[in-house]
Amino acid sequence: MNILGIETSCDETSAAVLQNGRVLSNIISSQLIHKAYGGVVPELASREHERLIVSVVESAVNKANIQKIDLDVIAATAGPGLIGAVMVGLCFAQGLAWSLGIPLVPVNHIEAHIFSGFIQETPDEAVPAENFVSLTVSGGHTLLCVVDRNLHYRVIGRTIDDAAGEAFDKTGKMLGLDYPAGPVIDRLAGEGDPYFHEFPRALTSRSRTSKSYRDNFDFSFSGLKTSVLNYINTREPAFIEQHIPDIAASIQEAIVDVLVEKTVAAAMKFNIGSISVAGGVSANSGLREKMESACNEHGITLSIPKAIYSTDNAAMIATLADLKLSRGIAAPNNYDVAPFASFEHRY
Ligand code: KG4
Ligand code: ZN
Repeated sequence: MNILGIETSCDETSAAVLQNGRVLSNIISSQLIHKAYGGVVPELASREHERLIVSVVESAVNKANIQKIDLDVIAATAGPGLIGAVMVGLCFAQGLAWSLGIPLVPVNHIEAHIFSGFIQETPDEAVPAENFVSLTVSGGHTLLCVVDRNLHYRVIGRTIDDAAGEAFDKTGKMLGLDYPAGPVIDRLAGEGDPYFHEFPRALTSRSRTSKSYRDNFDFSFSGLKTSVLNYINTREPAFIEQHIPDIAASIQEAIVDVLVEKTVAAAMKFNIGSISVAGGVSANSGLREKMESACNEHGITLSIPKAIYSTDNAAMIATLADLKLSRGIAAPNNYDVAPFASFEHRY
């Protein structure tokens, strides 16, 4: 079975072809136009998707060495995301599926991130056969779920304010770093001292104010943002300039500590031996390292997607559609699909 996946929920225009569950192609065109604005401009994102969608889909089909006529199913992100951006990919998918007379499967973007640790390029890669704890950390979401073998998941924690990726991007912006600042902080942190300054770890065992961190799997990063702003504003610019790598390393350490503590605590509480970390922030080398050593310490199996599947991509959209179709969970849609308004919206 050949599935074409399409992803346009934010600032990546992506198309992928999956053949019998394996990735044949995964084309990602990242929109650079937003760099000048320090964040994604929704209107510009929609226009860029409109400009790129045809050539990105053509490239994915060509690279997979098939023809459009060989496609059996089209899976497209139906939300959540920037609504104009989602609509470009979804309407394109709708039109193409209709013209080819094949089913359209609308996919929840965040749900696709959850399962992105199981994207297969070769037959021997991991499949989500058992229960696992899923941490999804992106620019818009920080979500902790317990997933069962039927692909059902229960949200046990989420951010009550900023997402982890947002915390990276916004504190990085305060330091004058380019958008998105997550990867820049990651790189700078390699040259800095993570213990240079202790920024707050809200709702954890190391939080100074919260006594109720146990069994609280929610996250909060807005205090960290304020703390970084105060730190910068109360020191000489030359001092800040001189210590950018140290401050970056300290910010990263604070965010990573929170993510690792809560995820491992959830696995212990629910007695689950598997953790999967996904979303753009899962590319962070500090997070990968700390999560790996915490999992080793507790005998937990860890799966993290390759960096190319951490950030937004269409392979994860096609993979989730394939997992659901092969397990009889997804009902292919007959083209009259409406965009999903939120993470809770599924089919
Ligand atoms: O999943 P994603 O590509 O898009 C959303 O759905 O949001 O995630 C983008 C987020 C951005 O906030 C970006 O700064 C962050 O992921 N990110 C990273 C790294 N690579 C991407 N954050 C920390 N370290 C990285 N290496
Ligand atoms: Zn995403």
